[in-house]
Amino acid sequence: MGCALQKLRQDVTPVRGARFAGRFEHLRIAEPVDDPAIVCYSCPMKFSAMPESVHPDFVVRPMESRDIEIWYDYLTLPAVFQHTSWSVTSANELATYIWSPETFEPATKTRFAIATRGDDKLAGTIGFHTVSPQNRSAEIAYDLAPEVWGRGLATYACGLLVGWAHTHIGICRIQAAVLESNVRSARVLDRCGFEKEGLLRQYRMVRGTPGNFFMYSHIA
Ligand SMILES: CC(C)(COP(=O)(O)OP(=O)(O)OC[C@H]1O[C@@H](n2cnc3c(N)ncnc32)[C@H](O)[C@@H]1OP(=O)(O)O)[C@@H](O)C(=O)NCCC(=O)NCCS
Repeated sequence: MGCALQKLRQDVTPVRGARFAGRFEHLRIAEPVDDPAIVCYSCPMKFSAMPESVHPDFVVRPMESRDIEIWYDYLTLPAVFQHTSWSVTSANELATYIWSPETFEPATKTRFAIATRGDDKLAGTIGFHTVSPQNRSAEIAYDLAPEVWGRGLATYACGLLVGWAHTHIGICRIQAAVLESNVRSARVLDRCGFEKEGLLRQYRMVRGTPGNFFMYSHIA
């Protein structure tokens, strides 16, 4: 097992941050067992420690229902969705991303809110989908409201989640599929140390048209 199983066992601690205290207690990973396969299967994406932002202006926290309208408003701007496969037509479609411990399973997609530290207003989102507990892999995805582009926030949040996923969740391979026209996102991944693996032709539908995506990965 090449990735940090041992480290995972050491690092997983109960949530201590005042804001989130208690919220994830019930998701604490079971006591370490001798069989690594059991621990591997039970971890991704269950977690007891949140990715903790030390950014002076932005926190990372669970998605809440009050975030959805704001997210929908910027996600439906052409400048935001044009280089992605998003095609949302109502805010309700995004409700599945609201944090819900009751329905959480190891392979559940997980999206965090990036919110202003002062008034706690949604400024972006970041998280994982296509989570494979067996393979200890997941795909990262993110977006920002245009008014906070160009400040290094996506790079910061991506770096934060990559470190958290490798260290606290035990994810070995974090991948990112980027539409070939999405230059800004490619630059985020480059800055975070992702490696470009190649072009996946007609990999995903982009609002009815097959799109070519570059595949990037970050390995533990
Ligand atoms: C992809 C997306 C999140 C990137 O946003 P971004 O603002 O370009 O990325 P960052 O927040 O990391 O900011 C980086 C820029 O800020 C600049 N910057 C300023 N201060 C910085 C700092 N402290 N650290 C790093 N970069 C900084 C960088 O030079 C860079 O500018 P450049 O693009 O001109 O080189 C954004 O374009 C977006 O939401 N797009 C729509 C959704 C999307 O495409 N999602 C990804 C799907 S794969």
